[in-house]
Amino acid sequence: MLDDPAAGPATTRPAVPTDPTSPQVRAVLDVDLPGATISKHVYGHFAEHLGRCIYGGFWVGEDSDVPNEGGIRLDVVEALKALDIPNLRWPGGCFADTYHWRDGVGPREQRPTMVNSHWGDVVEDNSFGTHEFMALCELLGTDPYVSANVGSGTVREAAEWIEYLTRADESPMAQLRRSHGREEPWRVPFWGLGNEPWGCGGGMGAGAYAELARQYGTYSLDHGDNHLYRIAAGAADADYPWTEVLMQNLGRYLGVGEVSGHGKNTYQAISFHHYTVVGPTWENKGSATDFDTDEYYRTMVKAAEIERIIAGHANVMDAYDPDRLVGLVLDEWGTWFDVEPGTNPGFLFQQNTLRDALVASVHFDAFHRHADRLVMANIAQTVNVLQAMLLTDGDALVLTPSYHVFEMNKGHQGAAVLPLTVRGEAPVHDVDGTALPTFSGSASVRDGHVLVSLSNLDATAPLTVEVDVRGSAVGAPTGRLLTAGSLTAHNTATDTAVQVRDLDDVSVEDGVLRVTLPAHSFATVRFAVDA
Ligand code: AHR
Repeated sequence: MLDDPAAGPATTRPAVPTDPTSPQVRAVLDVDLPGATISKHVYGHFAEHLGRCIYGGFWVGEDSDVPNEGGIRLDVVEALKALDIPNLRWPGGCFADTYHWRDGVGPREQRPTMVNSHWGDVVEDNSFGTHEFMALCELLGTDPYVSANVGSGTVREAAEWIEYLTRADESPMAQLRRSHGREEPWRVPFWGLGNEPWGCGGGMGAGAYAELARQYGTYSLDHGDNHLYRIAAGAADADYPWTEVLMQNLGRYLGVGEVSGHGKNTYQAISFHHYTVVGPTWENKGSATDFDTDEYYRTMVKAAEIERIIAGHANVMDAYDPDRLVGLVLDEWGTWFDVEPGTNPGFLFQQNTLRDALVASVHFDAFHRHADRLVMANIAQTVNVLQAMLLTDGDALVLTPSYHVFEMNKGHQGAAVLPLTVRGEAPVHDVDGTALPTFSGSASVRDGHVLVSLSNLDATAPLTVEVDVRGSAVGAPTGRLLTAGSLTAHNTATDTAVQVRDLDDVSVEDGVLRVTLPAHSFATVRFAVDA
C-alpha cells in the first residue's frame, strides 16, 4: 500500500506548472528498473592515531569527567550510532605502517611508548590499542576494518594479530588474548594489507607491493568461522596502472569465496584513496571556512571528479573480472584544507562548512551509481581530523554539516540503486572553462520506499527539480533539507548554524515529483511505491 491512497498509477502526465525564472532540472526515475545493491559499507568511517581523532575524539580514558564507558566517549558513540555506522577503519592511514600491535595490548601502564612520526612527531602511549578499538566497535555495533603493518612490520606479526583477534582454541595468541582479559575471539571481517605503499607505507612500486600483498594475503588466515575480506592497498587518485598490476597479481582465482583454502585469492578487494584538494598548492590548500564563491565552485569541480576516477578503476577491473567479484574500496576520501590557525599542522584539524556537506553529497551520488563495483568507502576521518563528522571541544560535541549528509542519506545503505536520468539541458556553472553541473542526484529503493537525494550546487540561485517517476504509483512525499545562510556556515559548540529541517517545497502530481531547492542546499525526499 502507498502512503497516499489517492495517488493513482502514473499514466497521464500533464506538465506541472513551474516558475519560468528559476533554473530547472527535469529527470526521469525508473522505479521498476532497480540496479545493484548499494553496499552499506560505502557509508564507512576511518579513525587514525592522528591529532585528536583517537585521543580526545574517541578516547578520553576511564578517569575523564567526560561521560565514558571504559574510557570511550559516550556522546561520540551515540552520535555515530545514529548514522548506522557500518564499519570503522583503524589504526591508519600512515600510522598503520608504523604500528606494532603488541605494544597496544596488556596492562596500559606497562605498554611501551612510540613516536608517531607521521602525525605531529608526538609520543604515543599506546593506551588505545586492540582491546579498546574492539570495545569501541562493539559499542558502535559496527564492523572492524583493521589495517596491518606491511611497511615496517613482518608477515609473522600480522599473522599473529589475526590469530590474537579471531582464534577460539588454545593457540598461543588466543591464550595471550585471554591473559589480557578477553575470553571470546572477536569477529574481524575486513583486513587491510598496508596503506599507501607507494608513499608513507613503504615507498614501493606497484610490482614490489603486489608481491608483498600476495605474501601477507597468504598468511592472513581465516580462523574458525571468521572470514577475512582482504583489501590490498591501492592507488592514489587516478593511478590506474597501480590497479592493473594488483588485478594481475590477485592469485589463482578471481572472486570471493569461490574456492577455499590455498586456492583462493590472496586478496579480495583493491583500495584507492582520493581527497578533494583545491590548492593552489599543497602548502596552500585554502581555509576550511574562509573562502569565496569562486573557490567554492573550484572545490565542487574537484569533488565531482570522483565519478570519473571510480569509473577509471572500475574499467581496469572489468577487463580482468567482468563478473565484478573483486571489490573496489575507497578507504580514504574527503576534503583536505589548511589546518585551523593556531593548531598543530600535523594534527590536520579543520572546520567543516556547508561546502563540505555538498562535497559529501556529490560523492555519495557517485558511490550509488557505481554500486556494482564499489563495495566500501571510508570518510577521512570520523572525529576532529580532515572532513570530520564530529568535532569535540572539551566535553562539548559538535555535529558537522557533513554528519547531517551521512544521516540524511543512511536509507541508501543496502538499498537497490535506481536510475535517475536528467533529461534535456541541465544548468551548469562555468568554472575556469569547466562546465560544472549544478544539480547532483541519486535514488534507491528498499522495502517499497524510494529515497531520492538532491543537491543544488548553485551558490546563489534556487533550483526547481521535476522528477517523472515511472513504473509505479507514487505515495505522498516527505522531505528533509540541509542548508544555511551562506556556504561558509558551520557549527561550533555555541552556534549550530547548519541544521536539518523539514523540506516544505515538495509535492507530487500525476506521478511527477516537484521539489524546489534553495541555493547551496542538499535535500532528501522519501515516498512509497508499489513496484
Ligand atoms: O588521512 C590522513 C592521511 O592521508 C592518511 O594517514 C594517509 O593514508 C593519507 O595520505
